[in-house]
Amino acid sequence: MRIGIMTGGGDCPGLNAVIRAVVRKGVSAYNDEFLGFFDSWDGVMEQRYMALGESDVRGLLPRGGTILGTRRGSPFDSSDGVERVKKCFADQCLDGLVVIGGNGSLTVSSLIFAETALPIIGVPKTIDNDVYGTDLTFGFHTAVQIATDAIDRLHTTAESHDRVMVVELMGRDTGWIALYAGIAGGATAILVPEEPFDIAKVCEQVANRHRSGRYASIVVVAEGALPISGTLILPKYERDQIGRPRYGGICVTIAEEIEKRTGYESRVVQIGHVQRGGTPTAYDRILSTRFGLAAVDALHHGAVGHMVALRSSQVTTVPLSEVVNQKRPIDMKLFHEIGSVFFG
Ligand code: F6P
Repeated sequence: MRIGIMTGGGDCPGLNAVIRAVVRKGVSAYNDEFLGFFDSWDGVMEQRYMALGESDVRGLLPRGGTILGTRRGSPFDSSDGVERVKKCFADQCLDGLVVIGGNGSLTVSSLIFAETALPIIGVPKTIDNDVYGTDLTFGFHTAVQIATDAIDRLHTTAESHDRVMVVELMGRDTGWIALYAGIAGGATAILVPEEPFDIAKVCEQVANRHRSGRYASIVVVAEGALPISGTLILPKYERDQIGRPRYGGICVTIAEEIEKRTGYESRVVQIGHVQRGGTPTAYDRILSTRFGLAAVDALHHGAVGHMVALRSSQVTTVPLSEVVNQKRPIDMKLFHEIGSVFFG
């Protein structure tokens, strides 16, 4: 087979590990040829690519980012975009395309597959862990580890000054990174988009903790967290290139409010893109590798229009049409179980 590979959406640790696994498996098991398209769908539409052989993927396993580059656009942004994707398949004699992406790229893949039946297979990536149909996306584990390491460091400086540290973590409209890093880092409170927070209650939790002789509090807030309606005015978010709110800065509003209401000195920490950078954890390297191997097998077995997925520790495939337009909120039972014992 002659197979294209592309990466789409925000980068995350493990993309290169998937590319490596796809190429290594395809070459050794099936004698496949690979074309790596640059800059997501742009590279497919413009037929910009590099040939990918075994020597090209050497050393990629621990390398963060993506050697192919990535963007957030879609063929549907231009009137002839889908035609150009079809032309690329025909011109390059492609038997398949591996799309490594998050909700945006997987939705586009599903729509293109429905319209053209082109042989596309999706591989779910994102630090946000918000793709429906898979227990985990690669990149999430690494982001949680980076955030947890940061929170561990914040405890000692916060304790030395008896301060409140408000730590803002990524995740868009889900609180997966905040919940997991907040639990692992021993947070006083975790604020997630799935459940509007009451700032009065958060201040009460902080005050209780300090009154009972504990120094320092760590309040973890997901970038997309929302206060109970009418209780707090959030920053006005700009829009990104695909019209979604560009989150960032909620930690400042929360820290100011905590300081004003409790009198405890507060500081903000926005870890930002550090969560997405650098080498994947061992877990993410393994998950990326398993996904890459499964994607090649899926193409050879005709499971096109599908996405590889992790379900109860097994890698399987699910139709893209079942995955897109679905939400994947955090486990609220876990959130409340942790909150009832550890918050405040
Ligand atoms: O989807 C991954 C993510 O890192 C989100 O958590 C975050 O809101 C967004 O991407 C940031 O996007 P950008 O890299 O365009 O600033």
